[in-house]
Amino acid sequence: MFETRVTELLGIKYPIIQGGMIWLSTAELAAAVSSAGGLGIITSASFDTRDKLRDEIRKAKSLTDKPIGVNINLAPSTHPVKTEEYIDTVINEGISIVETSGRSPEPHMKQLKQGKVKVIHKAPGGVRFAQTAEEVGCDSVAIIGYECGGHPGPDDTGSMVLIRATLDALKIPVIAGGGFADAHGFVAALALGAEGVLMGTRFMATQECPAHPNFKEWLIRASETDTLITQRSIRAPSRNLKNEPSRKVFEMESRGATLEELLTVTRGTNAQRVYFEGDLDAGLAECGQVVGLIHDIPTVKEVMDRIIQGAEEIIKNKLGAMVASP
Ligand SMILES: Cc1cc2nc3c(=O)[nH]c(=O)nc-3n(C[C@H](O)[C@H](O)[C@H](O)COP(=O)(O)O)c2cc1C
Repeated sequence: MFETRVTELLGIKYPIIQGGMIWLSTAELAAAVSSAGGLGIITSASFDTRDKLRDEIRKAKSLTDKPIGVNINLAPSTHPVKTEEYIDTVINEGISIVETSGRSPEPHMKQLKQGKVKVIHKAPGGVRFAQTAEEVGCDSVAIIGYECGGHPGPDDTGSMVLIRATLDALKIPVIAGGGFADAHGFVAALALGAEGVLMGTRFMATQECPAHPNFKEWLIRASETDTLITQRSIRAPSRNLKNEPSRKVFEMESRGATLEELLTVTRGTNAQRVYFEGDLDAGLAECGQVVGLIHDIPTVKEVMDRIIQGAEEIIKNKLGAMVASP
C-alpha cells in the first residue's frame, strides 16, 4: 500500500512527511505523525541550546517507537547553536533522518554520512537546488512549490510544473511539497511521479500542534487568498498569513524600502505570539495557500487516515472506473 523508495528509505509505512516547522513541530506533533505511519520532524532551530534539542528528541522517542527526523536549517543566522553541534546532538541521540533546508548541505554531508544519517534536502522552488542536493550525496529531495508555507524560493514555480521538472532531472526519490493537504493532492503528487508528499500547513491544523485555539480558528476561516509573500526585495521570500505586519512589509517593499527600514517592522514582530498567544497581528507567521482547503482541526491520525483511505478510494473507484474496460 503506497510503498515507494521513500517509505523504504525512511522505514515508514506511508510516504507522508511532516516538514520541519519552527516553534510548532515539537516532539508531540512529530511523534504523532510518526506513530500514524508517516515521518514526523522536529525543528532544531526552535531550541537555543543543544541540551534542549536533546531533551526534545528524547521526549519524541518516549512517545513513539517509530522513526523521527530532525530539521536543520542551514541558512545563515545568528542562532547560538552551530550546525555541527546540532548534527552532533542528532547523531548522539540515534536519529537517522535529517531534513536539511536553507542552503546546500554539502559542507555537512561528511559529518552526516559518518553518523549514518539519511539526508532529505528540502529544495524550495528550483530544480537546480534539487540537482545540487543529488550531486552532493543526499538520499532524497523534497521539492517545494510556490504554494508552500514558509520559503518558496526565488522563481515562483508552482508544484504542478516543478515536480515533473525535478523528476526529469533526478534519479534519487523525489518528495513533493507545497500545497498538499488531502487525498486528492496526495494522489496527484504520486501521479506526477513523486514518491511521497511533505506537508506543513495541514499539520499545523491538528489537535497535536501546540498552536493557540485563536490561530487554529483562523486556519479554518482562512481562504486560499489569505497568505502573502513578503521579503522578496531582500531575496528571502517567505509566505506568511495575511495580517497587519505582512501587509505593512509588503507595502513598504512595493515602495522600495531599504533593509534597514524593513527591519524596523520585522524585528519588532513576534511569530511565537501569533502561534502561542493567538494574537494574529503580533508578527510575521508562516502559512501556505493550502490553508484554503483546511476546514477542521482533526487529530494527526485522522489526517493521515483520511489521506490514505481517500487515496485508495480515488484510485480504485474514481480513476479505476475511468479506465475500466466496458
Ligand atoms: C509555520 C511554518 C513554519 C515552518 N518552519 C520551517 C523551518 O523552520 N524550517 C524549514 O525548513 N521549513 C519550515 N517550514 C516549511 C515546511 O517545512 C514545508 O516545507 C511547507 O510547509 C510545505 O508547504 P505547505 O505549507 O503547503 O504544506 C515551515 C512552514 C510553516 C507553515
